[in-house]
Amino acid sequence: MAYSVVGWLTRPWMLILALGLLQPSSAQFCSFWTLGCIDALAQVAVPFDFSPLFADPITLFYSFDSSKFGKGDGPMTKTAFWLGYKNHNVNPNIIETNTTSEVALRVGNLTGTPAGGNNGCDGIWGEKCSHNIKTALQQSIFNLVTSHKYYSQPLATVLNEYLIDQPDLEECGPHVFDVAAIPVQDFAYEEFPSREVTIMKPGSGYHPWQVWYLDDMTDAKQASQVAVGIISRAPCLNGIPPLSPDGIQIELVCLQAPQGPPTGSSKDHD
Ligand SMILES: *[C@@H]1O[C@H](CO)[C@@H](O)[C@H](O)[C@H]1NC(C)=O
Ligand SMILES: *[C@@H]1O[C@H](CO)[C@@H](O)[C@H](O)[C@H]1NC(C)=O
Repeated sequence: MAYSVVGWLTRPWMLILALGLLQPSSAQFCSFWTLGCIDALAQVAVPFDFSPLFADPITLFYSFDSSKFGKGDGPMTKTAFWLGYKNHNVNPNIIETNTTSEVALRVGNLTGTPAGGNNGCDGIWGEKCSHNIKTALQQSIFNLVTSHKYYSQPLATVLNEYLIDQPDLEECGPHVFDVAAIPVQDFAYEEFPSREVTIMKPGSGYHPWQVWYLDDMTDAKQASQVAVGIISRAPCLNGIPPLSPDGIQIELVCLQAPQGPPTGSSKDHD
């Protein structure tokens, strides 16, 4: 039986929690191995500020499903994310050059409870670490966009470098970029001088933006993990780089999807 819980926390970052089967029972079946959808066991949605491009907060959705018997014997989870927003709340007046906005999500090797500034991330690793992560990403993206090297997605390019050669982040634990993969999705292109904005259609469980699998992860283990969203806004290859790294926008969002329904009412895959 489907049920859902909606809770509002009076925090700067508000959580809308939904447990259990999130899709109506008439929904077409989405299997664990289907990449194009997710039948969420747990899902969380966190609104965050992405001004000046978006006048209203936009929402990061993080969702996971699990299977007790993944590819072999071990448990596995399926993770997905997407953004939700009203399509017409962008502010074309702030467009100064051709830019691309991207959203990334890292899951694994990080537990804690989201709280405080930087959309809950300060409660995970402290304000200084949040600052250092943002500064490192701004500097790396700035270096890339001023390097005359080819790139299409600046955040994805820099995160790939970080996975190979982990940045030394003072005040942060060793695990910030210690994950196997960080899926990234580009979702907004601004064009100058036309001031046209092309935005990816909001996602959903039927159309998640990125989906991937984690080996040896149980639903309980993933529920204890903190997922970290990294959202960027930076010049395209044919855009004009800012004068300093401060001109690269980086936002962090830390979220945790609650554990699924207790044993007995949980849905089974195999
Ligand atoms: C931005 O993109 C358009 C179309 O792709 C291009 O014509 C224009 O020269 C680009 N340049 C700047 C500086 O924004
Ligand atoms: C956690 O870190 C280990 C060691 O670096 C790595 O092998 C593993 O893939 C990471 N876990 C995830 C879920 O990425």
